[in-house]
Amino acid sequence: MSWNRKHLLDIESLSAEEITTVLDTATAFKAVGQRAIKKVPALRGKTVVNLFIEPSTRTRISFELAALRLTADVINFTAEASSLKKGETLKDTARNLEALNADIIIIRHRAAGAPHFLARVLNASVINAGDGAHEHPTQALLDAFTIREKKGRIAGLKVTILGDILYSRVARSNIWTLTKLGAKVTLCGPSTLVPKVFERMGCRVTYNVEEAIVDADIINLLRIQHERQRQTMFPSIGEYASLFGVTKDRLKRTRPDVVIMHPGPINRGVEIDSDIADGDRSVILEQVTNGLAVRMASLFLINGGQGPAEVNS
Ligand code: CP
Repeated sequence: MSWNRKHLLDIESLSAEEITTVLDTATAFKAVGQRAIKKVPALRGKTVVNLFIEPSTRTRISFELAALRLTADVINFTAEASSLKKGETLKDTARNLEALNADIIIIRHRAAGAPHFLARVLNASVINAGDGAHEHPTQALLDAFTIREKKGRIAGLKVTILGDILYSRVARSNIWTLTKLGAKVTLCGPSTLVPKVFERMGCRVTYNVEEAIVDADIINLLRIQHERQRQTMFPSIGEYASLFGVTKDRLKRTRPDVVIMHPGPINRGVEIDSDIADGDRSVILEQVTNGLAVRMASLFLINGGQGPAEVNS
């Protein structure tokens, strides 16, 4: 078990062993979070910058809390109130943050590849918190952590990802993670949003929602990414909900132990009925809770930690 990376930019380049190291380290940090004193000094003296150029609730706040729990100093960069508005480039902005001794920069940006670009031009470590429709590695890691916690394993499980796959960075990172760990991944949604080319990533594509969910161990729902679509990809929200939304009727035709996941934010009544989102098969809020442990693990490993055995040392 080892970790030897300065950055966390994507899942595509990680090995199954590296992914497992993050998950096992997150398990150790989840235990730390259940103690009376939830803080450890692993990042004491380090400065972590949340450089979010796109909106976020869950990812930004859980990275902030993760860094605070590791005793780092944390700066939350607010794009709207920054000199980006005066035309300063991303590179100059990030280099100025580095001049203020930023050790780890967590970036969310609408442009795919923005984190990789910063990793090339900075000395600081870079974590990708979502780049366009490319990847969202810590979301996929927290999803895998949640699946492993609920089912005891990932290899051999049937995982259906249902919704807007084409524009989803969560889908891409989940596909890489789950296939590397041995799950059987099915993608489903409108044909305009689930191109067959995704089969090249090692998963199955179907446009028949009933078939996609009937024997799934996990159903991971994705919202329609209106902000990234350049044209209307289906006739109406109502038609999407009726053809692909997870309703009470559809849920009756799934396995009794199916786990319903969603990265958030959810659109109640569109991809998921409200009472299912809040129901006993849903782990949507547990995903958010697990995100804290996974992001603590990511920061810890990026800062030179080797794995779970070091969490309490
Ligand atoms: N899942 C997710 O990335 O949520 P936020 O956009 O709120 O960070």
